[in-house]
Amino acid sequence: MLDLTSDLLAHQIDAATGTLSGADASERHLSQLRGCFADQAAFEAALAQGDPLVYSVASVERDSGDGALRFGLGTLYPGRVGQEYYLTKGHYHSWRAAAEVYIGISGAGGLLLETEDGQDGYVPLAAGGIVYVPGHTAHRTVNTGTEPFVYLGVYPAEAGHDYGAIADNNFRQVVVAGPQGPAVLPRAQHLAGLAN
Ligand SMILES: [Fe+2]
Repeated sequence: MLDLTSDLLAHQIDAATGTLSGADASERHLSQLRGCFADQAAFEAALAQGDPLVYSVASVERDSGDGALRFGLGTLYPGRVGQEYYLTKGHYHSWRAAAEVYIGISGAGGLLLETEDGQDGYVPLAAGGIVYVPGHTAHRTVNTGTEPFVYLGVYPAEAGHDYGAIADNNFRQVVVAGPQGPAVLPRAQHLAGLAN
């Protein structure tokens, strides 16, 4: 059991800088997202211009064991590769039954969701919003706005991250900038449009 001292149990979000006190941060640059975006040519063209930071995650994973929770602050920067908005790799939980709660802190975007039995979804999320991600559901965050999209995810300590299952096939849907704003469409349809 953790000591009941505020130094260990209290945390502070700074939405302006996308930081979470007491957390271990990791960063993902564009070059680490190879294969995530639909438009390969646009990805290579973007990478030729530089390797920007796309998102960072600051996680508090101090507690473990039955019933324990962990949480992480994601900061996903605004931008696009081709028509597709900046995104996170996305993952299933290794423990498939583990759910997660996402809380919007600042900026605007949404969560692409899908299940292994073929269900797809997209749920917008902005400051003050909450999205419940059920178990057995892969989740990827996208930033559809012009500012950093900052959100907190809370999940069972035992959840684990399975990136491989989604990396092998990628998400079935994409979120792209359309004439009327963000549009969610099947990856295959988007790819067919690029080929024309
Ligand atoms: Fe998760």
